[in-house]
Amino acid sequence: MSVQITQNDAGVLTLSLQRPDKKNAISLAMYNQLTEALQKASRDPAVKVVVLQGSDSCFSSGNDLKDFLRAGELDAHHPTVAFLYQLNAFTKPIVAAVAGLAIGIGTTALLHCDLVYAAPGCRFQMPFSQLGLCPEAASSLLLPQLVGYQRAAQYLLLGEAFDTEQAVAMGLVNQQVDSTALLAFAADKALQLAMLPAEAVQQSKALLRGKVKRKADKVIATELEVFGQLLKSDACQQQLQGFFTKK
Ligand code: COA
Repeated sequence: MSVQITQNDAGVLTLSLQRPDKKNAISLAMYNQLTEALQKASRDPAVKVVVLQGSDSCFSSGNDLKDFLRAGELDAHHPTVAFLYQLNAFTKPIVAAVAGLAIGIGTTALLHCDLVYAAPGCRFQMPFSQLGLCPEAASSLLLPQLVGYQRAAQYLLLGEAFDTEQAVAMGLVNQQVDSTALLAFAADKALQLAMLPAEAVQQSKALLRGKVKRKADKVIATELEVFGQLLKSDACQQQLQGFFTKK
């Protein structure tokens, strides 16, 4: 288990990815932990805000590529799939703190967060095509909405990386924060949100995101159909094997 879960008296639930030896790659067990934590947080009125973070030097290298190699069925019970739907459905605010790497779902998950803070020099990247895969987490809807079609194609077709300054300029990240201050800064923003009337904050989030969430739910399903097929393709399996044999 590599997600550390803590909750403070103000109602801030912090989910910390902690698998430093694999650059915080998210395993199936970690997806289960994240989904369960979000489900519990949805039901628990004491939880007002969620913080999603890695360490002050690494957010996440994305989905565990070893799990992609196993290429199981991506049905609603699959841990990654369940997490994607839960993240999209979550009604309380999520604050993300990003340092170092934000690869694959490390970037696409941010499209579902409400406030995102990042350390200087982060590497954001969605290398789906390079891996023989396609966008997930409704990024095929949410990214073009955020940055326009051509730039979304640059990041989702070419899989080009971008840094914190670019992420701020495109509106994916609210603000760049020094890495030594990042986690405390995000915690403080979460506390500010937690001190506000919870009903007002959640209703406001519903107004801001409600329509997009409903669309995103359908897009996640469509993406997963294609993703599941591509995952089993020779091209994808070769890319994945290549990652591990190169080492
Ligand atoms: N899944 C599984 N293991 C991963 C991983 C991932 N997504 N990303 C990194 N790791 C593992 C490496 O295999 C290595 O393990 P080892 O020490 O047992 O060999 C360890 O984490 C450190 O990674 P390494 O590649 O040595 O670090 P780096 O700093 O040179 O490069 C990355 C970091 C993230 C650029 C590189 O690891 C990478 O490209 N990872 C894959 C990212 C990816 O494609 N994610 C999925 C997107 S859909």
